[in-house]
Amino acid sequence: MLRVDVVLGLQWGDEGKGKIVDALAGRYPVVARFQGGPNAGHTLYYNGQKIVLHQIPAGIFHPAVLCLMGDGLVLDPEVLLREVQGLRALGLAPEERLYIGERAHLILPVHRWLESVSEEGEKIGTTRRGIGPAYADRYARRGLPVHAIEAPDFRRQVQRLTAYHEARFPDREPLPIPDTFWEGIELLRTLRRVRVSEWLPRFPAVLAEGSQGTLLDIFAGTYPYVTSSHTTVAGVLAGLSVPAQAIREVYGVLKAYTTRVGEGPFPTEIHGELAAWLQERGQEKGSTTGRLRRCGWLDLVALRYAIQINGVTRLTLTKADVLCGLPEVKVRTGGTDDAPTYTTLPGWQSLSDPAFQAFLTFIEEQTGVPICAISTGPHRHEWLERMPLSS
Ligand code: IMP
Repeated sequence: MLRVDVVLGLQWGDEGKGKIVDALAGRYPVVARFQGGPNAGHTLYYNGQKIVLHQIPAGIFHPAVLCLMGDGLVLDPEVLLREVQGLRALGLAPEERLYIGERAHLILPVHRWLESVSEEGEKIGTTRRGIGPAYADRYARRGLPVHAIEAPDFRRQVQRLTAYHEARFPDREPLPIPDTFWEGIELLRTLRRVRVSEWLPRFPAVLAEGSQGTLLDIFAGTYPYVTSSHTTVAGVLAGLSVPAQAIREVYGVLKAYTTRVGEGPFPTEIHGELAAWLQERGQEKGSTTGRLRRCGWLDLVALRYAIQINGVTRLTLTKADVLCGLPEVKVRTGGTDDAPTYTTLPGWQSLSDPAFQAFLTFIEEQTGVPICAISTGPHRHEWLERMPLSS
């Protein structure tokens, strides 16, 4: 039976998932995104160059790996066009290894437009990539799946949905559909589009690459300050059409502290000088929007919840190097969201400091899950495996 291993974020996104996907990807014939869209920004280093991928799975940098954009996605053809062009400029031929779930839905220009003319997106602090409106159309059963591009009246369907939304805002300038959208559609027509339930089981194993984080899940997250998809393991089942029994390892990624972009509750948030220090040291700026991320201490109450609902089997810890030099580090271990209580641990000077080892042991004891790997810096080689990863 197909084996599905999963990498997902346990906080509010930006945990550094790209790094573990990169470390694991070469061991799988297929890496698949299962939810979200270009709201994600997975930062990677390829031949020393920094690259941010928004829709294409991070496995694309491994020459033998096939990359699937699963049915759970909302896919922006214009962003796809730019990403494919960018990868070609690096000497890659992404179209040879890229597969698209025919039931993924399209993000139209009008979906992005809706986020700028309505105030809904502003309240949440969305990435303004049209994610919410595209999923809303999908669930309202008027959205356009990828396979719609084959319909003879596809152009009409796009115009009709665009007009439907424009009519809600009669005093706004109507939206011209840019040529780049149609160019993106032309590109999609040349790519391999597949029925995921038939294509994926041909392989022995797949690595499912999550985006955003558990606390941004549409059901399980801090609603309404969430994204519009299932960022949890539930999203893997629906987004890739795989049975629950196929799920094996669930790698949960967490940062040594917490960040959040956009609005919404954040019990362990820090303000003032220390927050500014973390933003600066940790380069806590959104990779999609450039916004500064809010920063706070690690929240073990939230982490235990995320581990529980995803069935996390292994943890990977990122950005502990950012905290080097702090005299002490706080971790939320209890209390309510309004009145969290903390345990204070000694800080560390370097990641070989015994105080850092004590921090790792503390997390493992508090969660009951082993930390299998640690990211020790932003680059590909800055990575330490503490136990054998999946084979
Ligand atoms: P949307 O996904 O653009 O609708 O935004 C909804 C919420 O999720 C906002 O608070 C965003 O900042 C947040 N969000 C969406 N994608 C990401 C991500 O990749 N990392 C971190 N936060 C994200």
